[in-house]
Amino acid sequence: MKKNITAKYKGVIFDLDGVIVHTDKMHYAAWKSLADRLEIPFDEEVNNRLRGVSRTESLEIILERSAQVYSDAQKLRFSEEKNESYLRYLDGLSPHDVSPEVIDTLRLLKGAGLKIAIGSSSKNAKTILKNVGLTDFFDAVSDGTNIEKTKPDPEVFLKAAAMLRLAPSECAVVEDAITGIEAAVRGGFTAIAIGNAASSNKAEFNITSISELQKIILGDIYAE
Ligand code: G6P
Ligand code: MG
Repeated sequence: MKKNITAKYKGVIFDLDGVIVHTDKMHYAAWKSLADRLEIPFDEEVNNRLRGVSRTESLEIILERSAQVYSDAQKLRFSEEKNESYLRYLDGLSPHDVSPEVIDTLRLLKGAGLKIAIGSSSKNAKTILKNVGLTDFFDAVSDGTNIEKTKPDPEVFLKAAAMLRLAPSECAVVEDAITGIEAAVRGGFTAIAIGNAASSNKAEFNITSISELQKIILGDIYAE
């Protein structure tokens, strides 16, 4: 029989791109078109450095391999060009782009009384949530539109926790970016790494599937 035991976690903050929905592949495709046009080498290894990093900082990382020096006006145009092609990918998103595993896990956490939030560096987070039909699912959304500093600074997660009216120590953060794991640790959250970030040894937990959250988060609520 299941019984209630003191819960360690009261909230879970999810990164969006690469955790809730695989828009990380769309970011990659959009950056790749730009890099190809500018004849700059770009691959998955460089792309992994862009996870959790703002659009402007991402462009700077890509331009590290460029033989040319570009003006600020040109860089702004490149960022806009990338975002325009990224937005075309986002137009194609639908609720089918969220796996049943993600939906089931979110439902389970909410059903157990936990608050859930998004903590993403993206300025497109709300468009993504709308297109995949998850806007009303989250109790709070902290994203690229309400922060000054991007990951590894903890600001986006601290703001998400504040929106949930919870302390960082009461929240877990689920992230696929190494910068995001660093941000979570620096902010005093329990860091849970998935995907690319799971290969780092910086998180408290490494998972291969989001359904493993059930055991980590609810394991101390429900016990035999
Ligand atoms: C997320 C992604 C990054 C992306 C950043 C900004 O953190 O992991 O790859 O660069 O958001 O996204 P945006 O949609 O504002 O360009
Ligand atoms: Mg991510």
